[in-house]
Amino acid sequence: MTRPQPTDAEHEVKSVDLIVSKSDIEGNITYVNPIFIKISGYSQASLLEKPHAILRHPDMPKAVFKYLWENIKEGRDVVAFVKNLCADGGYYWVLATVKMAKNPDGSFRNYMSTRRSVTDTAKNQIGVLYKSLLEIEKNEGEKASWEAFNNFLSQNGIHDSETFNTFMKNLNKETV
Ligand SMILES: Cc1cc2nc3c(=O)[nH]c(=O)nc-3n(C[C@H](O)[C@H](O)[C@H](O)COP(=O)(O)O)c2cc1C
Repeated sequence: MTRPQPTDAEHEVKSVDLIVSKSDIEGNITYVNPIFIKISGYSQASLLEKPHAILRHPDMPKAVFKYLWENIKEGRDVVAFVKNLCADGGYYWVLATVKMAKNPDGSFRNYMSTRRSVTDTAKNQIGVLYKSLLEIEKNEGEKASWEAFNNFLSQNGIHDSETFNTFMKNLNKETV
């Protein structure tokens, strides 16, 4: 599948929307809900069994996905802002909660992501962070970008996945 050329057309995620997908242990899509299909612009058939990276937007720094995988693999939930690419090249922002589900015998069942809308304030704030991480990634490499990401976390008092998730959720709260 050829990757769409990114455009600056934003697709609206409404505050009532809940965009859900599930995956196997490698991140290949095993389930998508109707709103996922609608917003991404892909058919269900073209999504199933494909890696979630089909949605990967070039504005997303690698460090965020490194953090995601390091934590979900260990069974720790991750709440993270993600800018996703649509089939038509447009984009949408979500605050994703990604979790591992286990079978009753404790074995791996699937990963599940539930995604909600993002406030304009959060889009701007996190957009600035991601832009600078991406610049560092391009100019100085992935390791430097990962260090910059970790510096951001420690500067904001984020020292484990719980404080990370709370920080991201708070960032997405409407300010009046
Ligand atoms: C359940 C689940 C949901 C995911 N959802 C997204 C998503 O919406 N957008 C995205 O770019 N990556 C998502 N990922 C992460 C991808 O698997 C992948 O790490 C990421 O797109 C970066 O791709 P790359 O490693 O090929 O650069 C998800 C992973 C899991 C396990």
